[in-house]
Amino acid sequence: MITGTENWNLAIFRDSLAASEAAADVVTSVIHDNPYAAISFPTGSTPLGMFDVLAARAARGEIDFSNVTVFCLDEYIGVTVEDPNSLTRWLWDALLTRIGITPDRLHTLPVIANDPVAAATEYEEAITARGGLDLAILGLGPNGHVGYNEPGSSADSRTREIALTPESLTQASAYWEGAVAIPGQAMTIGVGTLLESKQILLLVTGDAKAGILRRALEEPMSADVPASWLRIAGPRLSVIADEAAASNLSAVHPG
Ligand code: GLP
Repeated sequence: MITGTENWNLAIFRDSLAASEAAADVVTSVIHDNPYAAISFPTGSTPLGMFDVLAARAARGEIDFSNVTVFCLDEYIGVTVEDPNSLTRWLWDALLTRIGITPDRLHTLPVIANDPVAAATEYEEAITARGGLDLAILGLGPNGHVGYNEPGSSADSRTREIALTPESLTQASAYWEGAVAIPGQAMTIGVGTLLESKQILLLVTGDAKAGILRRALEEPMSADVPASWLRIAGPRLSVIADEAAASNLSAVHPG
């Protein structure tokens, strides 16, 4: 039995399939409670299983996304949805078209704005106008980033441009097998913005994440591992991991 002193939630599942089902259950429950929910979804490889479950449930009529609003979590500076390296395009193809999210209910990051600071503030205001995100779903970067809040990101950081670390550039390049150029800058929803969400779901699978997940959950919270800040959310944070990702966690953890 895992016990702890902080009051966030940790659930460990046998494998990534079971973790994906559990993550999809959280999304389903949020939308059942509030069909007009505002949600952010991560890109990357981790959420693909959850996307499949959600798409299957939508196809069977078990979950209705028709009134849901989606806020993009992160995007590379200067790319458009037509570009092959667009994370928005990735999310569009991997999930949004499959669950019937229409463009009018998708907020995209203003990565081609002339004044990115003002545009990022407007993006924040759009989230605030919705009363904050009802659910922020996040993956865990190999260097502890969430969205593209790279190491050094503070707990009160807001939607902004950020320089990507060499490690993140290598990770991103691998998604496209090195076939497309990855811009050195991205825009990401900030940690502080994420922390204001009504619910935060951190989904982590695979043994490659075991070390960084342990640092995120068990070391003192620090900008060195931005995901650690999520623990500030207390009971509003749910961490869903598979056994491989959880394999370095102590039997006693802070949550
Ligand atoms: C990516 C994205 C994040 C994602 C994380 C983990 O680069 N910027 O939003 O959650 O890194 O990616 P993966 O699931 O592929 O390990």
